[in-house]
Amino acid sequence: MSHRVAILGPTGYTGLELIESLLRHPSLRIECLGSARDNPPRIDAEFPRLSGRLQAVGVNPQCEKIDHDAIAKRCSLAFLCLPHEAAMTHAPALLKRGVKVVDLSAAYRLLDPAVYAAAYGHEHHDAAGLEHAVYGLTEHARDRVRSARLVANPGCYPTAAATALIPLLRAGLVDRTGIIISAASGVSGAGRDPKPNLHYPEANENFSAYGIGVHRHQPEIEQTLRMLGGSADQGREASALFVPHLLPVTRGILETIYATPAPGVTTEALMSALREAYAGERFVSVRADAPTLRDVQHTNQVHVNARVVHGRAVIIAAIDNLVKGASGQAVQNANLMLGCAEWEGLG
Ligand SMILES: NC(=O)c1ccc[n+]([C@@H]2O[C@H](COP(=O)([O-])OP(=O)(O)OC[C@H]3O[C@@H](n4cnc5c(N)ncnc54)[C@H](OP(=O)(O)O)[C@@H]3O)[C@@H](O)[C@H]2O)c1
Repeated sequence: MSHRVAILGPTGYTGLELIESLLRHPSLRIECLGSARDNPPRIDAEFPRLSGRLQAVGVNPQCEKIDHDAIAKRCSLAFLCLPHEAAMTHAPALLKRGVKVVDLSAAYRLLDPAVYAAAYGHEHHDAAGLEHAVYGLTEHARDRVRSARLVANPGCYPTAAATALIPLLRAGLVDRTGIIISAASGVSGAGRDPKPNLHYPEANENFSAYGIGVHRHQPEIEQTLRMLGGSADQGREASALFVPHLLPVTRGILETIYATPAPGVTTEALMSALREAYAGERFVSVRADAPTLRDVQHTNQVHVNARVVHGRAVIIAAIDNLVKGASGQAVQNANLMLGCAEWEGLG
């Protein structure tokens, strides 16, 4: 059975990645490419690599001005590849008209609107949406995602960190406090809009830390570890210090996570917990060696490895920020919401 879907914000990086995935999808068909521009472009003029490929599968490459009523008449689900504030406007309008929503922005990820306002620098204006949004870290939220009308697709850095840490926290193998996440992302993580530090001469052959301890993903990581990493131990909630870096590559995230192992915990115990948690999972690979960016680029995979060295647990996780960290996981979630097989479009 075919489901017709809309992509709002198709002219950005996550929008393009989503189009690529849906062109391969046997059951989801792109019905509407929604733009806020006064003169919506043809998507193959924005991204010439799409030339001829949408028409070949019967999809109109012309973007259209976003119209909620028109989308509701033609689509059962919409992907929002938009800035956070724009997502907060379009999500309730679509939900009210019966269209399911997978939101790739951060608009619905943080449970507490005050935490959202502090992290994102503006007030949240859809508290009702926050109440029923489901945080779509797919491997850990399948049942809730299946019945959700609004899915908050997780952030890229939190997807890698949480996938690596949740099984270890649940099994009590590492201390819930004092976790340090040192992470590096390719430049596409910041979106298509040019910014001075992303300018080629600034980013190329350079490496820099940014947002140290104040990055917007810091509260999302901690919330996710608290929500899905098992209950607090003797009143101690999970806490982590997150330090991101800008890596001069186009795509991919690699995180090195340091934690204190519980007494007597060995490398084999960490690896067994990860293997057990992800046995049978298509999109998580527990690796005997440390993963690299190249292993995961252009895939919907999380690769993870863990070991105990010098009395510390050292966990390495790698993902493609635009696929498992955004559009790939969004397709995984949409598949569940629409009753398709979870891996369709993600081969
Ligand atoms: N990049 C990543 O790795 C990544 C990973 C996870 C989540 N995300 C999140 O996903 C969302 C999209 O990210 P991106 O990297 O694709 O961003 P992007 O490349 O900057 O694209 C943003 C898209 O939103 C559209 N847009 C901008 N302002 C709008 C408005 N007021 N109303 C309607 N449309 C508007 C843009 O259209 P125009 O071309 O017409 O301006 C463009 O299509 C963001 O919320 C981001 O935080 C990104």
